[in-house]
Amino acid sequence: MSNIEQELLSYLPKVENENIQKLVSAMEYSLMAGGKRVRPMLVLEFAKLCGGSEEAAMPFACAIEMIHTYSLIHDDLPCMDNDDLRRGKPTNHKVYGEATALLAGNGLLTLAFETALSAKAIELNGYEKCAQAAKVLALYAGADGMLGGQMIDLESEGKSVSVDHLKEMDNKKTGALMIAACKLGCISAGATKEQLDAACSYADNIGLAFQIIDDILDITSSTETLGKPVGSDDENEKSTYAALLGIEECKRLSAELTENAVNALDIFENDTEKLRNFAYYLLNREN
Ligand code: IPE
Ligand code: IPE
Ligand code: MG
Ligand code: MG
Ligand code: MG
Repeated sequence: MSNIEQELLSYLPKVENENIQKLVSAMEYSLMAGGKRVRPMLVLEFAKLCGGSEEAAMPFACAIEMIHTYSLIHDDLPCMDNDDLRRGKPTNHKVYGEATALLAGNGLLTLAFETALSAKAIELNGYEKCAQAAKVLALYAGADGMLGGQMIDLESEGKSVSVDHLKEMDNKKTGALMIAACKLGCISAGATKEQLDAACSYADNIGLAFQIIDDILDITSSTETLGKPVGSDDENEKSTYAALLGIEECKRLSAELTENAVNALDIFENDTEKLRNFAYYLLNREN
């Protein structure tokens, strides 16, 4: 188990009541089901790049992974994308039922704030940085961030929409949590405004590229490799870059966005090799 996974586990509530234990088990099921841990990695890497420590940034890294996992549990529900497989396992509602899956998502969302404002987070970062982190989590996960993107996504099903419309949708549904992740690392480290702006530009570019690649993989990959059902977007008549522009143009675009992201790192004096490689790994990923 990685460091991030051990830390995630440590923040789950320990309860005696067996009914509540069922809820915590459902939360743990999705949180510990694997996943690439992209967002926590971004938190930790930007914290280190800006002169902070992995230890101090870890509660923020866990918080954003909890929010991301909640977004996936709800995204898979029958009333949303209606998918049966996630991270190579049956989706939360397939195992625990829809009502418990709904609560497990809510449980992870609230646990994220408990974690960002935990005694450990405050001891390592101070009250002010923890308050800033909580605000970033709320803003970027909220109605004008990830949730707003999910709403545009639902409203765009079965419609023909413009590239600008798709860009706004993807920037919000996927880019927002990437930006939040990079900002959280910067907050923990006490980064300068210049560093923060560069981190946001990196995140903005990899965020859009990430969703475009996710949409390509939904067409070109296999369920086994992806750990989630392929063809889900087509089945739900989703509006995606891949459907509108075709796979080749999407590959060109995601490579261009990745270059923009890498170039945004030029202002840093410290070694940015890890984040540069990370951008290319995300571009060339198979799941
Ligand atoms: C999937 O995110 C949802 C999107 C925003 C495209 P990830 O591809 O990061 O999912 P996990 O965490 O690795 O399962
Ligand atoms: C989901 O986008 C983005 C979220 C905010 C969860 P998708 O619906 O394309 O994500 P997957 O393909 O199910 O992981
Ligand atoms: Mg979706
Ligand atoms: Mg989905
Ligand atoms: Mg998808």
